[in-house]
Order: sequence, then structure tokens, then C-alpha cells
Amino acid sequence: MQTLTQERVIRPARNIAGSLRLPGDKSISHRYAMLGAFADGTSRFTNFSTGADCASTLACMQALGALAKIEGQSVEITGVAGRVTPSASPLDCGNSGSTMRMLSGLLAAQKGTFTLVGDESLSRRPMERIRRPLEAMGAKLNLTEGHAPLIIEGGPLKAIDFTTPVPSAQVKTCVLLAGLQTSGTTAVREALRTRDHSELALRAFGATITRTLDSVSISGPQPLHAIESAVPGDISSAAFFLCAAALFPGSSLVLTSLGLNPTRATLLDVLTALGAHIAVLDLEEKHAELVGTVQISAPPEGLGSTAISGALAAQLIDELPVLAAIAPYTSGGIRIRDAKELRVKESDRIALVAKNLRAMGAEVEEFEDGLDVPGGQTLHGATIDSGGDHRIAMAFSVAALRADGETLIQGAESAAISFPEFFDLLDQVAER
Ligand code: S3P
Repeated sequence: MQTLTQERVIRPARNIAGSLRLPGDKSISHRYAMLGAFADGTSRFTNFSTGADCASTLACMQALGALAKIEGQSVEITGVAGRVTPSASPLDCGNSGSTMRMLSGLLAAQKGTFTLVGDESLSRRPMERIRRPLEAMGAKLNLTEGHAPLIIEGGPLKAIDFTTPVPSAQVKTCVLLAGLQTSGTTAVREALRTRDHSELALRAFGATITRTLDSVSISGPQPLHAIESAVPGDISSAAFFLCAAALFPGSSLVLTSLGLNPTRATLLDVLTALGAHIAVLDLEEKHAELVGTVQISAPPEGLGSTAISGALAAQLIDELPVLAAIAPYTSGGIRIRDAKELRVKESDRIALVAKNLRAMGAEVEEFEDGLDVPGGQTLHGATIDSGGDHRIAMAFSVAALRADGETLIQGAESAAISFPEFFDLLDQVAER
């Protein structure tokens, strides 16, 4: 269970300036760890995510028979060549929905019984969304009222044609990882295109995947082969620094080796629409993942306004808390809709964003699927309830940089779920 112990004081800043190289992308690290552990041969990754979530994935894969050597951000994994060893004790996914949902797909096609558990927050999150397709393929999944603990009776599956009920890359990946091991062609259709790291990673590990505008299909069974890669910097972690820099006229921030996969980089378009000046340099591809350097500076006249809904909301799902947290400092505010999924993340992010904005003195209107945050507001320092949610803790640390007075972030240690270096790096680029 997560205990909220650490508090962190955030003092206002005068400016944001400097250059950072951020640790590896969480989504890509999860996938490389899982696929490397399942492939034949030894994979080597540098700049692997330092977050606790990816450590959970690595630990689960070790418990399933993969051999991993972890030295800081360098990870070497020798895979099980397509056949895991069921572990006697439950697989602990910690706080990580990605670990639980994606691993379930991999294990559903393996012979044996697997139990997946998580912390208090993960045990509240919806798992029915993976039970349905996996049971349609022939696996048996036991849940408690739709939640973890999750018990999988795995074995040979049959291919399906599945349409995801909610836009979710985790659900898509879950089905693809089951399909990878299943005779016939498994197709996943999604109304809104979600992040495509699994498709790119499966190809990098040697699998053949077919994509159309709204579907991905995989014909199994196919073997995977080890790769070597430097993981691109995490753009969802970068979001906190990009939004911080966007708040200070005169700011100048450079982020190098940043992942810029088009299904993840929508924040750059939103910040540009708000008036920030952004340049992208040194673009290259690593295993089909786009990587580059981003330079950002804030407009002298301050940020404007924007509305986010539909496909944009799905693509920006992890960046919405920080966008909402900086919205009071824009001139015209930010309107967010079609983001109901925020309510079933590590916390109810709509409710917590609204609560914490109000604690800082802001006006905000809450909707079932979003928020209206008017612009032109002045915030004051306050005590922030992170709810043990890493993105809430970091989003309000950014809002605190422009507030009057100091802000106390409760449960600040939750930042380590995705980004343990966050507070140190913030101190490095915040001029006071
Ligand atoms: C992720 C997908 C998203 C995102 C999460 C990481 C992934 O979740 O919020 O942080 O790596 O596939 P959903 O698939 O539930 O939308």
C-alpha cells in the first residue's frame, strides 16, 4: 500500500532556463522490457526509464524466468525464447496499469496459472477491458468486481477481431501480445488512434504487423529476437518542463534526445497553439521511434487559450493534468472534454486537478469528462493533495512556480513512479 509520507516545498521561480536530457520513455521501456524478456537472445537497453513502474515490469519478467542485469539506466535482458516459467508467488505490478494490462496479454497465451497483483491504486483500476478480449480468445480471467487481483488461466488461444471499447494503448497491446502467440490473424480496431509504441517495438523485435488507418493486425505465432537500443527521453516527463518554460517570458529550455513519436508529441502542437515558440532539431529514428532536440521559449505576451477534445484528448491523456494546472496563467483559459478516462488513472485526475486548483485560489468548473479552467487568474501557494499520483504531484509543482508564496506538495515521493529525478531537475532549471 502507498503511504503518503514525503512533503516537498516548491518556491516560486523567476524563470526557467537550461538544457536537460531526460530518462527513457516509460511506455517504450515497459515494452522493450517485456519483449526483450520474451524474445530469444540478449537485449541491451541504455537510457531505460528510471521510474518505479518500469522496475515493476522488469521484476515481473525476472519472476517469469528472464535474466536481467540492471545497472542504473542500462539494462541487459536475456529472454525466455517464447516460453515463460509460471512463478510460484504473485506477480507484483505495483502502481503500474501498463504492466498489469500488457503482461496479461502475454501470459494469457502461456500454459499455466498466473496471479497479478498491484498496490491500492492499481487494485481500484478497471480490468474488465482486458478480460473481455482475452476471454473471447479462450483464456480464463478471474477478477474481483472488475479489479485486480487478476488470475489468468492461460493456454492456446484463438485469433479474434476486436474493437477497443475505450481508446487505450494498453488494451491494444494486451490483445496484440496474445495474438503474437496465436495461430491465425488477430486484429485490433480503435476509433481513435492511441500511442503506437507496441506496433513499432514488435517490428523492431522482428515481428510482422499490418496496419491500416484504424486497425492493427498480427498473424501468429511469431518469434521475437533480441535488440539493442537507446530509449528516447520521455516526452510525458518533458511535459512538466515544457509547460513550466511556457509560463515565463524570457525562458529558454532545451531538451535533448527526446522521444517525438507523432502519437505522443501532440503537446508540442498545443503549446504552439498557446503561443509558445518551439523548435525541433536533430531528428533521427531509433527502431522507428522518432527522437530529437526540442527548444522552447515563452511568448513575451503570455499564453493564449485552447480547447482540447476528441482525438486530441486521447493523445494528450497523460499531459492533461499539467495543462490544466497551468491554464489559470493563460489569458483565455483551457477547456478539456472527452477525457473521462482521466477519472480511472492512478487517481481520479479530474477531481484532484479541480480540488488542487481551488486550493490555490483558482476558479475551475468540473465536468464528467473534463474541466473548464478560465485564464487570467492569480494563484497562491497552498497544500496540494497529490493522492499518491505522480502526475498530480508534478503538475502542481509546475503551477506552484508562478504562484504567490510557497506550495507544499503532499505525497511528493509519488513522482518516482515515472520520474524520480523530477524535483532535482526542476531545481536545476528554475531560476529563483
Ligand atoms: C500507456 C497508455 C495510457 C497512458 C499510460 C501509458 C501505455 O493508458 O495513460 O500512462 O504505455 O500504453 P491507457 O492505455 O489506459 O489509455
